[in-house]
Amino acid sequence: MSTEILVAAPPQVETDPRLMPRLVSGEEVRLSEIIAAMSVALDITQGQPAGHCVRNCMIGMRLAQELRLPAEERAALFYALLLKDLGCSSNAAKMAYLFGADEHAVKRDGKLIDWTKAAHKLKYAWQQCAPGGTSLDKLLRMAALFRSGPRGERQLVQVRCERGAEIARDLRFPPATSAAIRALDEHWNGRGHPAGLRGTEIPLLARILCLSQTVEVFFSNHGLAAALDVARDRSGTWFDPDLVAALLAIRGDEPFWGSLKRADLLTAVQTWEPGDRVEMADEACLDRVANAFARVVDAKSPWTYQHSTRVAEIAVGMAQQFDCGPELQCDIRRAGLLHDLGKLGVSSLILDKPGKPTEDEFAQIRKHPDYSQRIIEQVHAFRQLADVASAHHERLDGRGYHRRLDDQQMQWVSRVLAVADVCEALSAHRPYRQGLPWGKIREMMRRDLGTAFDPECFAALERWIDRGEFVPRIEAQLQEMDRLLSELQ
Ligand SMILES: [Fe+2]
Ligand SMILES: [Fe+2]
Repeated sequence: MSTEILVAAPPQVETDPRLMPRLVSGEEVRLSEIIAAMSVALDITQGQPAGHCVRNCMIGMRLAQELRLPAEERAALFYALLLKDLGCSSNAAKMAYLFGADEHAVKRDGKLIDWTKAAHKLKYAWQQCAPGGTSLDKLLRMAALFRSGPRGERQLVQVRCERGAEIARDLRFPPATSAAIRALDEHWNGRGHPAGLRGTEIPLLARILCLSQTVEVFFSNHGLAAALDVARDRSGTWFDPDLVAALLAIRGDEPFWGSLKRADLLTAVQTWEPGDRVEMADEACLDRVANAFARVVDAKSPWTYQHSTRVAEIAVGMAQQFDCGPELQCDIRRAGLLHDLGKLGVSSLILDKPGKPTEDEFAQIRKHPDYSQRIIEQVHAFRQLADVASAHHERLDGRGYHRRLDDQQMQWVSRVLAVADVCEALSAHRPYRQGLPWGKIREMMRRDLGTAFDPECFAALERWIDRGEFVPRIEAQLQEMDRLLSELQ
């Protein structure tokens, strides 16, 4: 992943919960700073290079400037452009299953073809289905893929757009932001998805998203001339001709096109937020953002349904056993919600594999806490949060990953998360085994006390679970997981 890394001194290690400082610094943070940083998680889900959503935002906002959209519309557009891919994890497992391939490559390459043309679609399917397999493997995959027809195609887009719009609404962005995300794959000629809207039936902001995301992909892969060619070619089919005209009118704005190559894109994009609409992120807003991205992560696989929210819940339950203060509990919840953010960068083909991962596959899995850290720490106020959340696979004996921290180096919150994470994972179904009951989980985890898990943290888990707050949730969770799995087939 090619995201920029902030270099700073490592935070001080604290293993005593009474002395643990807050994980989110008290400084004021702009919501746009947080959302721009978190949009990188959406980039990696889509197989795009880090910065795709941010550049997309800058292109869309430059178009809005050219179109002289009022500030209110530009404010709604700004977040729709950054968050257009909020729903993209919800079809990841299905795409990996259908193509028999890493869905990141399938999604990335899909952005470079005109899938409304049969010849392009056929060639794309041949290239993407069962990579490395025999011709027969590929043909069988393609047959299964095309059997679902346009309806299957529409459903894949629909689940993504609906989910993205729903999360944007829960983040309390304006209705116009949600509406734009819901309709970003509609085409001017009515042949887009999910509703087949035509022309001005498509909200203007969605039309801008549709154009800007394609322009960004071609600009980043092949340069400005190629991006303009695609816009011209698809004017009147995919794109609103007036918007293409506006794009062509700004083609000579060299400082703007140059700004898309800046190293400090996360700072650059903030200058495009309408100045009189800047929102600062208060505590409730931070919670909404953490909840939203936990939903994005948990939607990636039926097997990890509600994993992040449950880890957060267990970790807070454990923290309460230590008489931890409400503010730190709040931060621990956020760390639990975001701990697996980096899993969005690991293929569902590997995460959902019904068997033991190979060495190579396991190497991919081991990267996910590193991705989590790199994304979260882009927000300066979240450095401590990133540090502890990304250490959830570390072990006291130093044999964990990704930084190989040991007993002397693991923060108390990381110890709590490590216990909560394994407890939750063992309670859930996996492709290779059923979810385990608490008695079995307790027995298994006890074997690793002092080597993997902190004994005091584990004792806190036992106390919390003995209060009976954990077990009743499992049945409901497993039933929903079964329902999601049946949809995958
Ligand atoms: Fe993890
Ligand atoms: Fe996890």
